[in-house]
Amino acid sequence: FEKREASIEQPTTSATDVYNQPFVIGVAGGAASGKKTVCDMIVQQLHDQRVVLVNQDSFYNNLTEEERARVQDYNFDHPDAFDTEELLRVMDKLKHGEAVDIPKYDFKSYKSDALRRVNPSDVIILEGILVFHDPRVRELMNMKIFVDTDADVRLARRIRRDTSEKDRDIGAILDQYSKFVKPAFDDFILPTKKYADIIIPRGGDNHVAVDLIVQHIRTKLGQHDLCKIYPNLYVIHSTFQI
Ligand code: ADP
Ligand code: C5P
Repeated sequence: FEKREASIEQPTTSATDVYNQPFVIGVAGGAASGKKTVCDMIVQQLHDQRVVLVNQDSFYNNLTEEERARVQDYNFDHPDAFDTEELLRVMDKLKHGEAVDIPKYDFKSYKSDALRRVNPSDVIILEGILVFHDPRVRELMNMKIFVDTDADVRLARRIRRDTSEKDRDIGAILDQYSKFVKPAFDDFILPTKKYADIIIPRGGDNHVAVDLIVQHIRTKLGQHDLCKIYPNLYVIHSTFQI
């Protein structure tokens, strides 16, 4: 556990504005790195708090008939595959304590087929391969976590998951991986690792990292509560590599 940098500074935005809003945690990393597993572990440990999980998958653009017919040529790992404006609209509502309807994405039909109602919460976890890509989305986050899992482990998990859960053929999974998934990881996902406050090797296997993160979130939530009472309190910012 290496403490890279720590400083005490006064918040630039009014503390009253910042601390009346939910605490937003971003969780990025390659596909099948264990992002959802880590988020579920965090949510489970924060069972006494109001926590909501928002998946970037919910904001996949629906495919047109033409794109659907040639789905093997569609790049689901490119930033343009997502409706980031809608994601920003949803996050803005949640940050301001409003309930919102979030699309449910269906990986088999390649479109959103329903909505789920999400109520305002004290903690919002936003998870997805490219949640650190757009600076406007990054700016919403109070804490950024990158799940760092070896490429061979990610591919093995993807093959297991996509054959069983998405009824995909192994040949198609491998073609998609070499054509789109791996290049997009190198070009768009890995370069966003530098924005992380915390990097977790081995994803959900890393119980020590998840425990430390939960402790840190609880400390920050405590500061949130304190700053609601004493808006002029100074804030301690720190950056960790676990
Ligand atoms: P992501 O959200 O990054 O795509 P998930 O957490 O959904 O990753 O994990 C991808 C797949 O790998 C899932 O099928 C999940 O059950 C499996 N998986 C995740 N973490 C582990 C682990 N530590 N050991 C074994 N399988 C895992
Ligand atoms: O849950 P995870 O982060 O793994 O989801 C992202 C992955 O889902 C991307 O690598 C993308 O290729 C894949 N995907 C897919 N089919 C879709 C939408 C996304 O294979 N219809």
